[in-house]
Amino acid sequence: MYMSDLKILIFPDPKLRKVAKKIDKFDKSLEMLSKNMLKTMYEAEGIGLAATQVDIHIRLVVMDLSEERNEPRVFVNPEYTILDKSPFTYEEGCLSIPGFNEEISRPSKILLKWQDLQGNFHEEKPDGIFTVCAQHEIDHLDGKLFVDYLSPIKRDRIRKKLENRRN
Ligand code: NI
Repeated sequence: MYMSDLKILIFPDPKLRKVAKKIDKFDKSLEMLSKNMLKTMYEAEGIGLAATQVDIHIRLVVMDLSEERNEPRVFVNPEYTILDKSPFTYEEGCLSIPGFNEEISRPSKILLKWQDLQGNFHEEKPDGIFTVCAQHEIDHLDGKLFVDYLSPIKRDRIRKKLENRRN
């Protein structure tokens, strides 16, 4: 299972709107999937990838925010609470919305909680881009995309351009 190459869904694919299920089995296939997702993310030159984006609807996220691309991280069942609502603005991109970057404001401080591949619980207060990336990826698991924070006109423009590109 999950051994084949993963294909990244592109907005406005309706499968990107599915809400992912909580993971309760910490087995070999979960480890294989996270490895496969990391490979897919590195090949696409992304910094984060949610399972939703490869049409697997479980709460799994991979990330690498390092310059050298040698610090892979895996987050099982990630969730957060907001510690400081004051906005942090960052120009976000997304492997499911290729070619578009938009400034998005999100809460600047969160408490991130997740499990590792063995099921152990962890928490951390990320800063900077890690805060942004964590919120962006958890949004994916809930069927949300960064374009949802834009005006309907802007979102529609991006949707039309991506649809035209595919045809
Ligand atoms: Ni994304």
